[in-house]
Amino acid sequence: MTSVLFVCLGNICRSPTAEGVFREFARAEGLIDDIAIDSAGTGAWHVGEPPDQRAQAAAASRGYDLSAQRARQVDPADFARHDLILAMDRTNFDDLCALCPPGMQDRIRLFLSFAPGAEIEEVPDPYYGAGDGFQRVLDLVEDASRGLLEHLRAS
Ligand code: 4NP
Repeated sequence: MTSVLFVCLGNICRSPTAEGVFREFARAEGLIDDIAIDSAGTGAWHVGEPPDQRAQAAAASRGYDLSAQRARQVDPADFARHDLILAMDRTNFDDLCALCPPGMQDRIRLFLSFAPGAEIEEVPDPYYGAGDGFQRVLDLVEDASRGLLEHLRAS
């Protein structure tokens, strides 16, 4: 079983979106029993909360249900538990590297490094922005999820 963890700052916008989208992709490809999928935040402000209503509404507009998810903070045990720890932006990446036990840093990647032909390397934080930021997050997350699934299938 391969295990992937999606990580952003609050675990209420980008990483729950990635978890929900990637879960659907894995299900559609018949791989849902072969890949463990989870998400977490580097920050603790929203622990226990469901995803942001705007993230849930944007995801629902494309058929993804995020409503059962609850935010949690990254735990040091996550580094041993997951094969890939996928950061939404550089700050998340750097924060994860600072928390990571020695010898496990190669598990941490920028999620968009799996997006074929992506012109940017970070999923922009939509929390304080206009509503269409959540659709942009979905576009990027769907691209990278496709690439991630290809990567896992090949390895
Ligand atoms: P996320 O978005 O990291 O994609 O979940 C944010 C959610 C909450 C905050 C910042 C970003 N916040 O400052 O509370």
